[in-house]
Amino acid sequence: SSALRVAVLGAGTVGTEVLRLIAQQRQDLAHRIGAHLEVVGIAVRDLTRDRGEHVPAELLTEDASVLVREADLVIEVMGGIEPARTLLLEAMAHGASVVTANKALLAQDGASLYEAADIHGVDLYFEAAVAGAIPLVRPVRESLAGDRIQRVLGIVNGTTNYILDAMTRTGVSFDEALADAQELGYAEAEPTADIQGHDAAAKASILASLAFHSRVRLSDVHCEGITEVSAQDIAAAGRMGRTIKLLSIVERVEEETGERISARVYPALLPEEHPLSSVSEAYNAVFIEADAAGSLMFYGQGAGGAPTASAILGDVVSAARQRVRGGVGPRESHYAELEQIPLEDL
Ligand code: NDP
Ligand code: HSE
Repeated sequence: SSALRVAVLGAGTVGTEVLRLIAQQRQDLAHRIGAHLEVVGIAVRDLTRDRGEHVPAELLTEDASVLVREADLVIEVMGGIEPARTLLLEAMAHGASVVTANKALLAQDGASLYEAADIHGVDLYFEAAVAGAIPLVRPVRESLAGDRIQRVLGIVNGTTNYILDAMTRTGVSFDEALADAQELGYAEAEPTADIQGHDAAAKASILASLAFHSRVRLSDVHCEGITEVSAQDIAAAGRMGRTIKLLSIVERVEEETGERISARVYPALLPEEHPLSSVSEAYNAVFIEADAAGSLMFYGQGAGGAPTASAILGDVVSAARQRVRGGVGPRESHYAELEQIPLEDL
């Protein structure tokens, strides 16, 4: 049968696991999709490093912009704003569908990507950009598209949860816990994005945009990280029967003057019996409240190579099936034309 040409941008923590799953599940994936996935190239910076058996040296390239023009499907797991944005726009302009884990890019300039997908009639999927393995983008974007979401609230950053949990339970220092989270592949390449709350804020902006069909950018999210949380704060919280968690909350707020959106990330004191208090290590947990559905809870591994690769492969199967059978996935480019709900003044 025919093959779909796949370009993978990045072969770090996540990319290596994506390539492992594509190789190990080759036959099953081909059955599910109706075509084989043929990895035609893997873009990296360092061509000399050995990356294990699933990242064949002969597929490595430094020239990502040539690679994206040859592909039916581009998996972007390199991170950062540039060159990722230009590469994805080029890929879509050449007719490729895109699967990305890049929350920073989506939060900063999702609108250009959504628009390009629409103009070129290709798919743009990003389940892995929010909460690792947990299916959250698809439920908000598709399953609840006929409902009215009021609030999305929870823990969406694995690194900070890992650090706070380790400091609480084992008393290790902030720096030691952060080093462990980096070692385990949870942290961003630049971990200040995690500890200053920007990564959680990026996810909040993506969730708010999808949940409220409105454009909410990273700069619209009120953001406090955990850099100011000390071991003394954690101990004092414990004595009060409380746990410190980095919460992300996006919600509709009814005011006399009309409806607004509030989006915020901050360390919160939760009672120990609160379900979010027991979320440990790099796990994430999110509650969604919608008018007809009521309250929904999502829980699972929020970071790490394999959990994130799982979410990416799900998107790859969806995008690949559309290429084989025709049709396109969900669209967000019309958000700008909707009546934009104002953001709460912060
Ligand atoms: P890594 O830093 O481990 O890997 C990044 C990869 O991209 C490396 O292989 C690097 O090449 C390559 N790369 C970076 N810049 C360029 C460039 N300019 N040109 C070519 N190749 C480049 O990151 P992760 O795998 O952890 O994360 C990747 C993406 O997934 C990010 O967007 C991140 O936010 C997102 N993500 C990560 C999660 C996690 O738990 N780690 C979870 C969810 C999303 P080289 O190896 O040669 O340096
Ligand atoms: N650095 C992110 C985290 C990766 O710790 O949650 C998952 O998006």
